[in-house]
Amino acid sequence: MTTFKHTETLSAKENIVLIGTEKTDFSKYGLSATELAYVKKQIANEEHIINVNQYSRRIVIYIGEEKKETYLTTEAYRRAGGRVCGMVNGVKLESITVADLTGDANNTLAFAEGMALSNYQFIHYKKDSKKITNSLKTININGKKVKADDIETLQIVVDATNKARSLVNEPVNHLNAVQLAHEFEKMGKEAGFKVEVLNKAKIIALKMGGLLGVNLGSIDPPTFTIMEWKPKNAKNKKPYVLVGKGVVYDTGGLSLKPTANSMDEMKCDMAGGAAVGCTMYAIAKANLPVYVVGLVPATDNRPGMNAYVPGDILTMHNGMTVEMLNADAEGRLILADALSYAKKYEPELAIDLATLTGAAAAAIGKYGIVVMGTAEKKVKKALKSSGENVFERLVEFPFWDEYADLLKTEIADMKNIGGPVAGAITAGKFLEKYTSYPWMHFDIAGPAFINAPYDYKPKGGTGVGVRLLFDFLSNVK
Ligand code: BES
Ligand code: ZN
Ligand code: ZN
Repeated sequence: MTTFKHTETLSAKENIVLIGTEKTDFSKYGLSATELAYVKKQIANEEHIINVNQYSRRIVIYIGEEKKETYLTTEAYRRAGGRVCGMVNGVKLESITVADLTGDANNTLAFAEGMALSNYQFIHYKKDSKKITNSLKTININGKKVKADDIETLQIVVDATNKARSLVNEPVNHLNAVQLAHEFEKMGKEAGFKVEVLNKAKIIALKMGGLLGVNLGSIDPPTFTIMEWKPKNAKNKKPYVLVGKGVVYDTGGLSLKPTANSMDEMKCDMAGGAAVGCTMYAIAKANLPVYVVGLVPATDNRPGMNAYVPGDILTMHNGMTVEMLNADAEGRLILADALSYAKKYEPELAIDLATLTGAAAAAIGKYGIVVMGTAEKKVKKALKSSGENVFERLVEFPFWDEYADLLKTEIADMKNIGGPVAGAITAGKFLEKYTSYPWMHFDIAGPAFINAPYDYKPKGGTGVGVRLLFDFLSNVK
């Protein structure tokens, strides 16, 4: 864990990162004439990260890069923060002060954010975990324009993102559906939001045939977690409802995934659920004045004894029937029940997050989130601009009625697979049938889990969705 601290003063002893521009006067920060000349030369050479080793301490200078658009510039600061984090751990520093000399607090906070997100590790299963723990523990932030409140919020959002990463990184033999729900309960206690976990008996009573169908092949029971943050000063009467796919492991069920690699990362199939739980955690900790409900249906998807088989017909929570023709298209089945359940809240807007389709990942990779849905244009615009703010960009796919035709079957109300084309969209069209309120679907199969470090994201779970939803909910008017 990385702790941010607000600091009003700079001393000549501490390790510092000076954030400036080509025009900044760096002469006041303890650099010798030779060092200053070196810095100037590096700047002239268009170096952006300049390292000065004074032996008793390190000085890093970062010259911000101006990009074509503001959000791209901000992202460059995050990425630079990520790189500097690597350097800082490389030389085993425990703390460093990030000092803003530009007067733009946002970019400096983005730099600190990139550092802290990059400092995340998931090593608690290793016997030498102490030895390999990153040295960096504290990031002090200094600057005339930097506000203590903003640092506090940044701490909350970074912690929540890292929590989501850890939930995703935990394998199913340590985090089954019951354990995932228990983690949400702990987070609710800590942050102060309400958590109710429905057990299998209650899920049966609610006739959630999708969730129960997927769970048939498992020996572990399913859970359905309901989280609520309803502060007295909430700006909205009708809640925002967040729904997260909580497939704690996806083997594909009897439509078993081929073992060669395609199953290796499937502990990430609850990344949507993790994002929802950790967003609840962040908004409650930050005391955001918004009424939000989080729903996470959870189970593993396995080909055990009584597993559902292709051809089975499931009756869903809303009474509709589904001919299940591919046991690996399980996410939409559990989400459908949750979206149908969400109706009772009369949502202002519901957003589901799900590692739903390989098709979404194939279309745009780890670089963004595939979205579609029925919300008003201005809501979509607000979501897209939050996506740019946090650099979790949204790409809207077409959502034409014709795609729903691909889900038709003669013997039930729909089937759970579409045709050979537009797999991400037909999955979305399936979900749409269970919504009767403004709704957006976020397919995070591409960005949820990465198999190599990328920018300020270590390998594994990325925590995608948490920063995005926090930004969006912070801007509710
Ligand atoms: N969990 C997978 C989707 C996925 C793929 C997530 C890659 C993360 C990375 C989902 O349950 C799935 O298997 N979808 C199938 C649907 C198909 C059978 C209609 C897919 O995309 O192949
Ligand atoms: Zn699947
Ligand atoms: Zn899945």
